[in-house]
Amino acid sequence: MRCVRADPAGADPAGAGPAGAGPAGAGTERAGVGRPGGPWLGSGPMDVLIHLFVGLHIIGIAALLGGFLTQMKAMGEGTARFGPAMLHGALTMLVTGVILVGLNQADDQSVDNIKIGVKLALLIVILGLVYVKRDEEKVDKGLFGLVGLLTTVNVFIAVLWT
Ligand code: HEM
Repeated sequence: MRCVRADPAGADPAGAGPAGAGPAGAGTERAGVGRPGGPWLGSGPMDVLIHLFVGLHIIGIAALLGGFLTQMKAMGEGTARFGPAMLHGALTMLVTGVILVGLNQADDQSVDNIKIGVKLALLIVILGLVYVKRDEEKVDKGLFGLVGLLTTVNVFIAVLWT
């Protein structure tokens, strides 16, 4: 489900974990709560930062997909438009996504470049369409539907591609 995973080779050469806790080779698995002897319970300051940006990433999806879903009736009538929420949501996805890649790399988590590349490519199409048509009062239903479809596909790529 994640674009990143703890490096199985043990990217923590000291074997020390974020707080210098845990025996050598305890690993760097972020989500685990069972790091023996570790006071962080799998959640150091870097994890908190990453999770904050995952939260912002999800707020971006909410704005983009919410903007689409609330206009499905208008889409059927051919009167839907790409409102500011959709544009700002798409931009938020891009900015937080790029920051998440950087944070995960800084945290020695390996990033699935193909998955990220596919998500990025789809988002660029979404962002391009929403940006170019942002001032149009009525957007063609096919184009509007395509943005909703690509956003939904990206959600499922994010959660199903392991
Ligand atoms: C419409 C576009 C996008 C959607 C709907 C989307 C959706 C999601 C969702 C639901 C998650 C949380 C589930 C998970 O951890 O896999 C996620 C995580 C993530 N996304 Fe996206 N994403 C989009 C675009 C992007 C882009 C463009 C990038 C990078 C350039 C990106 C990078 C990431 C990364 C690195 C994570 C993993 C965070 C972590 O687990 O530490 N996303 N995305």
